Amino acid sequence: MSILIDRSKRVLVQGITGREGLARTRLMLDYGTSVVAGVTPSKGGQTALDVPVYNTVGEACQAVGGIDISVLFVPAPLVRSAAVEALEAGIRLLVIVPDRVPLYDVLEIAAVASAKGAHFIGPNTLGVLSPEAGVLGMMGGSAEAIRSWAAAGPVGVTSRSGGITTSMGYYIARSGIGLSTLVHVGGDSVVGTTHADVLRQFQTDAQTELVVMFGEIGTSQEEDAAALIESGAFTKPLIAYVGGRAAKEGTRFSHAGAIIEGNVGNYEGKIRRLREVGAIIAESFGDIPRLAADALKPRSARPTAAAVKAEEEEGGAWKTAITEIQPNAIRLRGHTLDSLMGSVTFGQAIYLALVGDLPTPQMGRLIDAILVASIDHGATPPSTLAARTAASTGAPFNAAVAAGLLSINQHHGGAIEDCMRMIQSALKDRQERSLSAHEAAAALVQSYKENKKRLPGFGHRIHTDDPRTRRLLAIAHEEGVAGEAVAMVEALARAVAQRGKFLPVNVDGAIAALLLELNIAPELGNTFFMMARLPGLIAHVYEEKTRERPMRVIHPILHLYDGKR
Ligand SMILES: CC(C)(COP(=O)(O)OP(=O)(O)OC[C@H]1O[C@@H](n2cnc3c(N)ncnc32)[C@H](O)[C@@H]1OP(=O)(O)O)[C@@H](O)C(=O)NCCC(=O)NCCS
Repeated sequence: MSILIDRSKRVLVQGITGREGLARTRLMLDYGTSVVAGVTPSKGGQTALDVPVYNTVGEACQAVGGIDISVLFVPAPLVRSAAVEALEAGIRLLVIVPDRVPLYDVLEIAAVASAKGAHFIGPNTLGVLSPEAGVLGMMGGSAEAIRSWAAAGPVGVTSRSGGITTSMGYYIARSGIGLSTLVHVGGDSVVGTTHADVLRQFQTDAQTELVVMFGEIGTSQEEDAAALIESGAFTKPLIAYVGGRAAKEGTRFSHAGAIIEGNVGNYEGKIRRLREVGAIIAESFGDIPRLAADALKPRSARPTAAAVKAEEEEGGAWKTAITEIQPNAIRLRGHTLDSLMGSVTFGQAIYLALVGDLPTPQMGRLIDAILVASIDHGATPPSTLAARTAASTGAPFNAAVAAGLLSINQHHGGAIEDCMRMIQSALKDRQERSLSAHEAAAALVQSYKENKKRLPGFGHRIHTDDPRTRRLLAIAHEEGVAGEAVAMVEALARAVAQRGKFLPVNVDGAIAALLLELNIAPELGNTFFMMARLPGLIAHVYEEKTRERPMRVIHPILHLYDGKR
C-alpha cells in the first residue's frame, strides 16, 4: 500500500479554474486520482474538466460529501486564507503547491493544522506520486509520462528538491526497481511535513522496504531523520544523499531552506549524523540505483534471477507473466497485491490478471457491472440445476459448484464468445467494404437468415426488454467506453427490428459488445459469465444443503420465490 495517496482518497483542488490548477487537475484525473470537487471563489456552479466547482470549501464538502485531501493552486498571498478554510472545513491533509508563501502565513497554517489534528505538505511542493495509486499536485508532468517509467515497488522517496524527486524515481525505476511513494516535502525553510514525518509513514507502510532520502544543506531535517533512526522509530534501510557539499556559509543553495548559518545544517554535520545511525550514504547521485538494488537483495533461499536464467539456458525453467513472488512482495502483472488491495475493485483486478494492464476506474466500473449483471438468473438455468442436483447428493461445495460450472457451455452462458466474434466479423466487413454500421449490420443479419443461423446475443426466453442490457449499455455510454462495438450491436438490433422481428439485444449481446470495447479476447468472453456466476452457484448450493432434504426430486420449473422483495 502506498502512503498519503491511493485510489480511495477523495481529492479537492483549490484554485481549480486557474492556469496551473486546471492543468494539474487533468494530470491527477488522467492518472486515476479521484478529484471530486474544485473551489474558486465566485466560480461556483461551473465545472472544470467535468469536476464541479464551488465557491467555498464548506459548500464543496456539503455537496460532494467527505473529502480527504485538498491540493492548493492559489497564488501565494491567498494561500493562508485558503488553507485555513480547508482545515476548518475538516480536511485532514493539504498539499500546498505554491511557492513564495510568506513564512508567517506558513506558521499560522501549521498552528491551525495542529489544532485540528491535520497535516500539510509544502508549501513549494511538487506533491506526491504513488505509482499506480495516484498523484497529488504537479509531480510527473503528465499521466502518460508517469506511466512510461513509474512502476509500483518497494522503494519510497522523500526529497527536498522537486526536480530530484522525479529524477531519483525515474533512475531507480529505470534500473528495474519499483517505487512505493515519492514525496517532495518542499524546498522552504519551514514546511508542514519533514523528512522525519515521511519516514514515520514509510515505517508503517508494508509496501515500502527501503527509503531514499534526498537532503540538502540548511534546516535540521536530515539531523531529525537521523534522530528518528537512533530512537528506533525508523528501522528500514535508508539511503541518503545530501546536496550542497560545496556550498559556503551564508550562500543560499538552490532552495530557500538550503542555507547554512553558523555551524548548523552544514553538509559535514548531516553526513556525520546519518552515518552514525547507519544510513547508507550515497556519495554520488548516480550510485543510488545500485545501492538500492544491493540493499534490497533477496533475503530468502528462493532461486536468484541468475539461477533461474542459468536453469532457463539449460531448458529447465518455464515462463509466466502473471504473478511474481519475491520475499515480502507478491506482484500481479507487475503490481504489488497489497498496493492493489483497497485501491482497485475486484473487477479491475480481474482485468489486470487477464489482460495484463490496470484498467481505468471507468473501465473498472463497466467490468463490475458486467459481473453483477450475470451473478444469478433464477433457479432454472442448467448450471444452477446441476449444482443443486450435485449438492442434493451430498457432494461437497467444490464438487457441487464445479458441477454447475461444468454445465456452462455452448448453449448456456456460451453466447458471449459467439456474439463477440459476430460483432467482430460485422466490424471487419464494415471496414473492408467501407460500409456504414447500418449496412454492415443489415448484411450480417441477412446472411444469418439465409444460412438459418441464430443471432447469438439476441432474444430471450423471458425478457422482452432486459433491464440488464439497458443498464450495461447506459453505463458504457456514461463512462465514455462505448465505441464501435456498442454501435454495431445497436445497429444489429435495428437491422433485426427492420425485418419486422422482435429480437432485442440480450444480456449476453450487451456483455459481448462491452468486452470488445475493453479489448478482451473473444476466447475469454464466456469466462466472464463463469466468474460472475460463481457466487450465485455457491448461494444455490448452500441453500440446497441447508434448506432441502437430500436426494429430493428437483423439479426444473416448479419452484416458488419466498425471499425478500
Ligand atoms: C499557485 C500557482 C501555481 C498559481 O498559478 P496560476 O495557476 O498561473 O495562477 P492563476 O491566477 O491562473 O490561478 C489561480 C486561481 O486561484 C483562484 N483563487 C484565488 N483565491 C482562491 C481561494 N481562496 N480558493 C480557491 N481558489 C482561489 C483564483 O481565482 C485563480 O483562479 P481563476 O484564474 O479561475 O480566477 C503559482 O502562483 C505558483 O506558485 N507557481 C509555482 C508553483 C511551484 O513551482 N511549486 C513548487 C514546485 S517545486
